[in-house]
Amino acid sequence: MKKLNSKKIYMVTGVAGFIGFYLAKRLLEQGCKVIGIDNINNYYDINLKYTRLEKLKPFKKFIFIKGDISDKEMMMKIFTRYKPNIVLNLAAQAGVRYSIENPDVYIQSNIIGFYNILEACRHNPVDHLVYASSSSVYGSNQKIPFEESDFVDHPVSLYAATKKSNELMAHTYSHLFKIPATGLRFFTVYGPMGRPDMAYFGFTNKYFNGEPIKIYNNGDFEHDLYRDFTYIDDIVEGIVRIINSPPVDTVPHKVYNIGNNSPEKLMVFIEVLEKCLSKAVGKEVVFEKIFEPIKPGDVSATYASIDLLQKSMGFKPTTSIMEGLQKFADWYIEYYVR
Ligand SMILES: NC(=O)c1ccc[n+]([C@@H]2O[C@H](COP(=O)([O-])OP(=O)(O)OC[C@H]3O[C@@H](n4cnc5c(N)ncnc54)[C@H](O)[C@@H]3O)[C@@H](O)[C@H]2O)c1
Repeated sequence: MKKLNSKKIYMVTGVAGFIGFYLAKRLLEQGCKVIGIDNINNYYDINLKYTRLEKLKPFKKFIFIKGDISDKEMMMKIFTRYKPNIVLNLAAQAGVRYSIENPDVYIQSNIIGFYNILEACRHNPVDHLVYASSSSVYGSNQKIPFEESDFVDHPVSLYAATKKSNELMAHTYSHLFKIPATGLRFFTVYGPMGRPDMAYFGFTNKYFNGEPIKIYNNGDFEHDLYRDFTYIDDIVEGIVRIINSPPVDTVPHKVYNIGNNSPEKLMVFIEVLEKCLSKAVGKEVVFEKIFEPIKPGDVSATYASIDLLQKSMGFKPTTSIMEGLQKFADWYIEYYVR
């Protein structure tokens, strides 16, 4: 486990969110001061966001500000007041499919919000800006595994386009104002207290509501969808290592994949989830399954090359889906069922 400099001030946006929460918790456990920002939007159940925040409250060095990163004046005030050394921007409108239904919020949070973060870092210099990009920037690329140097100018959803835009904007600000910045392309992150809009969580909800699950893979198991699933603890460890290594190039901007480098067939993932839930609940869980065509904006495979991460940070994710999904299943049963 990599150590952090507890004399620095860390700002985590999206702190009530899945990844932001675990990251803030790790920083606080190591004695760091964390300024957390979140607008607590209702894209998914806000109770889960408050549950996460409750777990951060006992830490004396945690300050929570309810606010929107797209409010430039507020962001400038927060930066001037708290002078963060490390900024971790995890606030964003996530989700590929929702970007087809409600594009406005993606432009507001992911483009305007991110622009405000860059402007704030320009006027209040920081040691390192680390921000969330996404594996979705690889779109329908056929060459696998996906490498950071691959061509990513053909996004297939507005969500992906906003994340690719963030990488371009960060590069420009690093070039012009020498802001050390690192973008992280996360690959399907899962775990306890995860995002209810994600498939594994949604399937579990449906099962306990007595409803069938819909699987958007055409029912074609020969050519099933593949996803590189990454367990939350591996993501946090990757971020922590990256925090400690700001880029030092002439243009101090870098982009890394953080994935498992081991894609699973969607059907295998579902089978393992059924097994883990069966163990957690003490009876056999079998989902009733309906197969449907792949959805617009979805991609057929994600597969991370993590050579760059491993070479630069000496780290690669290690949690198997069996281990990670069991932790999710145990948490879910405890939180929702018992
Ligand atoms: N979880 C994944 O599999 C995954 C994969 C790729 C990329 N990402 C990216 O990682 C980041 C974190 O994702 P997550 O899974 O924790 O999502 P999440 O939705 O759980 O967390 C995001 C948090 O940001 C907050 N937020 C959204 N817009 C905001 C705004 N304008 N101002 C302030 N707060 C705002 C939300 O209320 C939420 O609590 C996001 O940028 C997401 O796009 C996640």
